[in-house]
Amino acid sequence: DVNLSVTLAGMTMKNPVVVASGTFGFGREYSQFFDLSELGGICAKGLTLLPREGNPAPRIAETPMGILNSVGLQNPGVDAFITEELPFLRQYDTKVIANISGNTPEEYGIMCEKLAGAGVDMIEVNISCPNVKAGGLAYGTRPELAAEVTHVAKAHAGQVPVMVKLSPNVTDITEIARAVEGAGADAISLINTIRGMRIDVNTRRPILKMNTGGLSGPAVLPVAVRMVWEVAQAVKVPILGMGGVSRGEDAAQLMLAGASAVAVGTALFADPYTPLKVRDGLAVLAAGQGLAAVRELTGKVLPW
Ligand code: DOR
Repeated sequence: DVNLSVTLAGMTMKNPVVVASGTFGFGREYSQFFDLSELGGICAKGLTLLPREGNPAPRIAETPMGILNSVGLQNPGVDAFITEELPFLRQYDTKVIANISGNTPEEYGIMCEKLAGAGVDMIEVNISCPNVKAGGLAYGTRPELAAEVTHVAKAHAGQVPVMVKLSPNVTDITEIARAVEGAGADAISLINTIRGMRIDVNTRRPILKMNTGGLSGPAVLPVAVRMVWEVAQAVKVPILGMGGVSRGEDAAQLMLAGASAVAVGTALFADPYTPLKVRDGLAVLAAGQGLAAVRELTGKVLPW
């Protein structure tokens, strides 16, 4: 049998498949479908220091090739996560990754301290939400601000590894990646959603109340593969790759491009079992190629 285990910034996972932040809530609904211990890890829904209602509806728009969302970080706040959701997730033998967004670098620091104290396995620092003003794309599109947030997060996370989630809504992803690596990031995750828009041609209004939203799903896979490939060549820190993954082959592309692990997001909505199918598909693919371990795929894309 192919060895499925991988390591991401010192965190060992039983397999390389995690569920992406914002697509799995805090796991309660999905736990009715399968044992969450089957997952390599769980990225919990994005947290802010205080509870948030999110943006006004409509805030989801389907398209033939993916989903647009303008949710705006609806969440119960970091304290409620720690007291009410983390104990539930801790019942399972899987890694728990908390995702955080702040209005200021200081808020990222406070949240890191709380979450490190509560014993999460990793903190994903979100500097790439396309749907909020403060703390959203401002940090993810400017190298010096991305570095500042990373630095503050690291200073307050203790021994807990910090992974910074990058935005695809930039011209040069490698300059942001180098900035966060230089500021001490232990890992990088990408991609968050790509800003998009859909218009109802009969009412002539945008579908989303916020007009624009973040695109995820099959449409973004080639963008994710390209960006993981570019970042892998620019930095030494490990990469969690995501964007449009629904099959083992999709995950294998991201790993060959340089990802140590992969996340499944939007595909969960159509089929909650997708992460298990991706894991099994990866194992079959690796075995078919004569590999002893799936981690041997990482970064092994060949030059022309
Ligand atoms: O597409 C996204 N939507 N990315 C994020 O980082 C946050 C989320 C939201 O809540 O708007």
